[in-house]
Amino acid sequence: MKYKSQKIAYWFFATCMLLLSLQIIYGFIMGFARIGYDGLHDWIPFNAARATHTNLLVVWLLTGFMGAAHFIIPDESGREIYSVKLAYIQLVSLIIVGVVSIIGFHFNWWEGRKFLEIPRPLDYLVVINVLTFLFNIGMTVWKGKKFSTTGIVLYLGLLAAALLYLPGMIYFHNQTVDSYFRWWVVHLWVEGVWELIMGSILAYLLIKLTGVDREVIEKWLYVIVGLTFLSGILGTGHHYYFIGTPKYWLWIGGLFSALEPLAFLGMALFAINMYRKSGRVHPNKASLYWTIGCAIMSFVGAGFLGFAHTLPQVNIYTHGTLVTAMHGHLAFWGAYAMIVLAIISYAMPLLTGRKLWNNMTSLFAFWISNIGMLGMTGAFAVAGIAQVYLERKLGMDFMVVQKEIEVHFIGLLLAATLFTVGIILYIYNFIQFGIPTDEVLMPEGAHDELEFLNDEKV
Ligand code: HEM
Ligand code: HEM
Ligand SMILES: [Fe+2]
Repeated sequence: MKYKSQKIAYWFFATCMLLLSLQIIYGFIMGFARIGYDGLHDWIPFNAARATHTNLLVVWLLTGFMGAAHFIIPDESGREIYSVKLAYIQLVSLIIVGVVSIIGFHFNWWEGRKFLEIPRPLDYLVVINVLTFLFNIGMTVWKGKKFSTTGIVLYLGLLAAALLYLPGMIYFHNQTVDSYFRWWVVHLWVEGVWELIMGSILAYLLIKLTGVDREVIEKWLYVIVGLTFLSGILGTGHHYYFIGTPKYWLWIGGLFSALEPLAFLGMALFAINMYRKSGRVHPNKASLYWTIGCAIMSFVGAGFLGFAHTLPQVNIYTHGTLVTAMHGHLAFWGAYAMIVLAIISYAMPLLTGRKLWNNMTSLFAFWISNIGMLGMTGAFAVAGIAQVYLERKLGMDFMVVQKEIEVHFIGLLLAATLFTVGIILYIYNFIQFGIPTDEVLMPEGAHDELEFLNDEKV
């Protein structure tokens, strides 16, 4: 690493690993409940498990983005993090708020709005926490020796994500209005500003891993930002079809959301092109796999499977069924989980000086988790499509249908087990790296990490 304070990133990444493990446990609790083994029902009913599963997902991804910012921003701005102490205080307070929320869910202390379940008083603490983070990173950018497009897009993405949290905190009496603004958070996050975060981390990794000129890579980044906003903002309309909003949303939502896959396609083509242009052979194969894999899987999960149910003619049947869960899993995994795992894989050798990047553990982690997640997506797809036909086409009772599709959750659990083996390997590799040390600080004036890493002394 170039700057001592980049070490902070490690603690954010370690928190990620912990929260991801917990998220998976809650996934299994739900999976087993779905096939009738709901022994924990009295303590962890399905709704509490679901809220815990999805909120843990959002929190570990945000923690990963914050870790990425602590690693990338010093490098892109040419200076140490503004305040190391503040960074640690922010991380610890984030963990405390997270733990209190999760415990709260188990005691029915929550808001019943999917993805925004965190109780209101804790929302205020989240806001203070995120402002602290943005202040610290913002000051680092501001006082930096240089400004880069990659660094600025990353910062703006994080800032916009924080601002968009606010519409979800306004209190409305009307359920339609409440739902309307809930999508400003949920949709404009994953199909708007988080794409900027993803695009900038992707750009950073491609600059480092392929050695292609920054100018070329950053031009693509502009195109991706453009495509994201062009389609994603009005694309919000695909959540306004049948919730009591005016009819014009049917065509606005349909048209613009149908264009959304273009931004993800752009990212996939971008990554593959840059890889093919690559002038250097970077030894960090694991990180390269996650980076290129992320660009491709996000197109499949978000772009392709999102498009599959985005037109109102289709969505009228699939809305709120397991087809949504099918898309939700592969989209979150491909776009955001994989980009976080990519930057962690890239950063760990530089933080610790250990070259555990091309071993069986890290490569198997990649393949097994991805094949497992594709299997899970397939299981949700089969269950979802069966549900649509039985419930929406044939008009069978909701609960009767749930019983009919139970068998597909056995498939889900098998695939989820494979997925979990992949994640265990990833975490095992992460632990093997050990804790960062100042001994691997690059010498003053050294610019090229690759040369530094190829140095046998490291
Ligand atoms: C071993 C792993 C996992 C299992 C067994 C599992 C299982 C489940 C189940 C049963 C649901 C509820 C579906 C329903 O409404 O009936 C769910 C929801 C969800 N899970 Fe997972 N999950 C796992 C891992 C993950 C991972 C790694 C991610 C993200 C990368 C993820 C993202 C989600 C999301 C976004 C939802 C909400 C979907 C929606 O809104 O419809 N899950 N999961
Ligand atoms: C990485 C980006 C994306 C992620 C993480 C993501 C994730 C999700 C999740 C979790 C839901 C369920 C939300 C809820 O019910 O509260 C959802 C719903 C939906 N997504 Fe995505 N999505 C992404 C991109 C896209 C794209 C690009 C499209 C369209 C081309 C799309 C189309 C839809 C539609 C139509 C729904 C509503 C499903 C329903 O009616 O139940 N998504 N998405
Ligand atoms: Fe959306």
